Amino acid sequence: MKPVRLLLLAGTGEARELARELAAIPEVAAIASLAGATRQPLDLDLPTRVGGFGGRAGFEAFLKAERIAAVLDATHPFADRISRRTADVCRARGLPCLQLLRPPWTPAPGDRWTCVDHEGAAAEHIPEGATVFLATGPQHLERFANLSGRRLICRRIDPPRAPFPLPGGEYLVDRPPFTVADEIALMRKRGIDWLVTRNSGGQGSRPKLEAARMLGLPVLMISRPAPPPGVTPVESVEKALAWVRSLCNARAELP
Ligand SMILES: NC(=O)c1ccc[n+]([C@@H]2O[C@H](COP(=O)([O-])OP(=O)(O)OC[C@H]3O[C@@H](n4cnc5c(N)ncnc54)[C@H](OP(=O)(O)O)[C@@H]3O)[C@@H](O)[C@H]2O)c1
Repeated sequence: MKPVRLLLLAGTGEARELARELAAIPEVAAIASLAGATRQPLDLDLPTRVGGFGGRAGFEAFLKAERIAAVLDATHPFADRISRRTADVCRARGLPCLQLLRPPWTPAPGDRWTCVDHEGAAAEHIPEGATVFLATGPQHLERFANLSGRRLICRRIDPPRAPFPLPGGEYLVDRPPFTVADEIALMRKRGIDWLVTRNSGGQGSRPKLEAARMLGLPVLMISRPAPPPGVTPVESVEKALAWVRSLCNARAELP
């Protein structure tokens, strides 16, 4: 029986875990794919291709050339373009496809969250003169263009290749993980008044929320985009692996 050729769309800690587990399943021949957003990503335990596919046509050509039989989308909850396209292409081609989407964060007692649907709403809530920690990553900073008059600090993994795109802003280069103590020290040292973050969920980047709570800081929480239509994601690596095993079992039962 030939192994199931599976494409793992990566870019999250969960995808890294999945890569480790998939590498140990002999009935699966998986390829991982990274967008190339981080210059020196941590290695995955699978053969890995890096970079966009070249739009929808490029993605379809890749699936065909690599004879991909199933796709596991473990990209970031805010990477909605790749997730929508993947769901759409797989539906059109009749390919089994599953999205792993970790649960969003929910506020705990003591949290001071203001939830908004998009970055453009930030200026309605964050007063001029405030020092703002943009823990949103450097992509799409232009969406905060209306935060003029605030001091903006954006943390990123790679050193920048261009100046900060907005006036009054600066980058802070550092690589996770960060502990709650790290985050408290940073927020104190930089005199942060507001934390801005996307509701990514997961444990890895949660310490900043706990730090904000402990310091009594307000948080602007950007809500997730709607999931692709017709897609029912699973919330855990274990459930995604169960899906992969069910694919292998179904293949084994074929005459
Ligand atoms: N958005 C975030 O906040 C965030 C945070 C952490 C990690 N990431 C990761 O960074 C990647 C890019 O994020 P994004 O927000 O720019 O995504 P996006 O808007 O949904 O996708 C933009 C384009 O990036 C390419 N792409 C995305 N994920 C890919 C993958 N795993 N393998 C190959 N190509 C991929 C595709 O290019 P083509 O059309 O050329 O195929 C896609 O059209 C994602 O894989 C995501 O998991 C994103």
